[in-house]
Amino acid sequence: MSDQQFSPPTSEWYHPTEDVINNAHVPDYEEVYNEAANDLEGFWAEQAESLDWYKKWDTVLDDSNAPFYKWFVGGKTNMVLNALDRHVKTWRKNKLAIIWEGEPGDKVTMSYWRLWQEVNKFANVLRSMGVKKGDRVTIYMGRTVEIVVAMLACAKIGAPHSVVYGGFSEQALADRIEDAQSRVLITADGAWLRGNIVELKKVADEAVRRSPVVDTVICVKRTGQDIHMEQGRDYWWHDLMALPIASPICETEVMDAEDPLFILYTSGTTGKPKGVLHTHGGYQLYTSTTLKWAFDIKDDDRWWCAADPGWITGHSYIVYAPLILGATSIIYEGAPTHPYPDRWWRIVEEYGVTILYTAPTAIRGLMRFGDAWPNRRDLSSLRLLGTVGEPINPEAWRWYHRVIGNETCPIIDTWWQTETGGFMITPLPSVSLKPGSATRPFPGIKVDVVRDDGTSCDPNEDGELVIQGPWPSMLRTVWGDDERYLSQYWEKYKKFGWYLAGDAARKDDDGYFWVIGRNDDVIKVSGYRLGTAEVESGLVSHAAVAEAAAIAVPDELRGNVIYAYCILVDGVQGSDDLVEALKDHVGHEVGPIAKPSKIEFVDSLPKTRSGKIMRRILKAQAMGQEVGDTSTLAD
Ligand code: PRX
Repeated sequence: MSDQQFSPPTSEWYHPTEDVINNAHVPDYEEVYNEAANDLEGFWAEQAESLDWYKKWDTVLDDSNAPFYKWFVGGKTNMVLNALDRHVKTWRKNKLAIIWEGEPGDKVTMSYWRLWQEVNKFANVLRSMGVKKGDRVTIYMGRTVEIVVAMLACAKIGAPHSVVYGGFSEQALADRIEDAQSRVLITADGAWLRGNIVELKKVADEAVRRSPVVDTVICVKRTGQDIHMEQGRDYWWHDLMALPIASPICETEVMDAEDPLFILYTSGTTGKPKGVLHTHGGYQLYTSTTLKWAFDIKDDDRWWCAADPGWITGHSYIVYAPLILGATSIIYEGAPTHPYPDRWWRIVEEYGVTILYTAPTAIRGLMRFGDAWPNRRDLSSLRLLGTVGEPINPEAWRWYHRVIGNETCPIIDTWWQTETGGFMITPLPSVSLKPGSATRPFPGIKVDVVRDDGTSCDPNEDGELVIQGPWPSMLRTVWGDDERYLSQYWEKYKKFGWYLAGDAARKDDDGYFWVIGRNDDVIKVSGYRLGTAEVESGLVSHAAVAEAAAIAVPDELRGNVIYAYCILVDGVQGSDDLVEALKDHVGHEVGPIAKPSKIEFVDSLPKTRSGKIMRRILKAQAMGQEVGDTSTLAD
C-alpha cells in the first residue's frame, strides 16, 4: 500500500549543458560509479583521505558481524575536527560559515572563526555542567544559530545529541527524552513562525514534568516573552556564555570512528519512535562526499538547504556536510510566505544564493501564488536546485525548473532517509534528468526494486526498494534496540543481506528509479514523517476515544493528509465539537503536523483475524476505490 500520488515514468528528458558537465566535480557519472562498484573499500578509503584524522583507520569495512557493520575501524576522529578545527587553521577562518535570517528580519553572520569560538565556549559550558563523552543531550529549538552551536558543541565533547524537531509537542518530546535518557535539555523560549511565537519552553516544561530524567535545562532567549524559569534547573544560555568558564578554547574529544555522533528519532511502524544512531566516522565521509558531488559545492557557493535542523536533512546538509566542505550556508528561521509569498525569493536575491535545496511540498505551496512573486526577484545567482522528502510530481518539477531555475538549473532530486544519513539515489549535475525520478544510485551504492522472493522486478513493475550492501553513513542500530534494527531493516531479505527501505518503487527501461511512496505504516505529510501509530496513540490518549486508526490520503499540496477513524468510549456521542477537540488534542500531544484533516466516528474498524487494523480497506473506502481482497478480514 503506497501512500503517495504517483506519476508513472515518463520519457521526458532534460540534459545538462556542456558547461555544467565540464565544471562538475564528477563530469562522468558512469566512470565513477563503476570504479566504486569494482572496489568499494578502495573507493571509500580514497575519499576518506580528503578528511583529517587523528589516526587513520586499520580496516575500511568490518562485516564480520553483519548487519552490524563497522566502518573505518581503528580510525580516530571527531566530526568537529573536520567541520571546524581544521578550517580555522586556514584562510577559511575568515569565510562565512553561516548567514542567518530570523523571520522578523534580524540577521546574523558568522565566520568559521567565530562559529568555532562559540562552539568552544558552549562545549566548555556543557562540560562544566558535568556532560561527559557518551552522555546524551536533547535539543529542542527552532531554526537559530544556537541550535547549530549546540549540536557542534555536543559533538565536540563526544556527547551524542538527540535533536527533537520544534514542531513536536509534549508527549513526543517526553518520549524521546525518556528513550535517550538525557539529563540535559537545550531549548529556547520560543521560535517565530508566521508572525507568531511557537512556545517551545512551555512544551519543554511539560515534557520534563512527564520525563523527570532531565535535571538541567538551558534556554536561549529568542522571542522574549515571559516564561517560567525553574530555580536550580533552568539557566539562560546568554548567562552561561558570559561566565569565565565559557572560554573560547576547548579541546576536541578524540573519538573512535564508530563512536555515536547523534541519535535522531524517526517514525516507524509502531508507536514508539526509533532512535536512529549515526557515528562520527562514516557519517562525515558520506554526507560530505554526497553534498560535494551531487550539489557540486565550490568555494564561492552560497548553499541554502531550507529544511529544519531538527530533521535528518538539516543534520546532514545544513549543519554537518556544508561545514566539513567549508561552505557558506544560509539558514532562515520562519515560514516561506511570511510576510509575503516572495520571502524565499527575496532571500535568494539578497544573499546571492547559488544552490537551493527544499521539499516538493514547499515548491507546490509557493507555486500556488503564481509566477509573479518569483519573477519580480533576481534569481539569476541560482545554478542548481534540489528536492527531497517525497516524490516530486512532474508539474511541480517543471515549475521549479522553469520559473525558479530559468530553465538552466539542473534539479537534483535526492532520495534518502533518516536511516541512510545521506543521499542514496540522486542525479549528479552531469546526469540527464527525468521529472519525478531521483535517477540513479550514488557511486558506492547498489539499489534495486525487487519482489517478495528477492527476484528483480521487470522494468516498470512495482516492487520493494532495497539497498544491496553497506555504506559508510548507514544507521548502526536503533538506540537501545538491536532487535528492532534487525527486524525492521534486515529481516525480510536476510538471506541476501539487503536493507529494506520500506518504499515502493519502480525502475524504468533506462535504469532510472521512481520512488512511489511508503510501503508500510509510515505517513509522509508535507514531507514530514509520522507513524500511523503515533497519530493513533495521540487519539486514544483522549478520554473520549476507545480505539483509532489513521491513514494517509493523497493531497495535492501536502503530498498526503491524515484521515482518522475513531471508536468512541461507551456513552460518548460524536459531534463536530468533539472532532475539533480531538484534532487539537493530537496537535497538542504529538504536534501540529500530526493533526488529522478529517476524523470520522465509527462503530468498528476492519481488522484481520489476528486483530491487525486493515488500513488498506479504510484507504480504499476513503478514496472511493474497490476494497480488493478481503479474505483475511475478521468480519
Ligand atoms: O518515502 C521516502 C521519502 O521519505 C522517506 C524518508 O523519510 P525521512 O526519514 O523523514 O527522510 C526524509 C529526508 C531524507 C523515504 O523512505 N523520500 C525521501 N526523499 C524522497 C522520497 N520519496 C521520493 N523521492 C525523494 N526524493
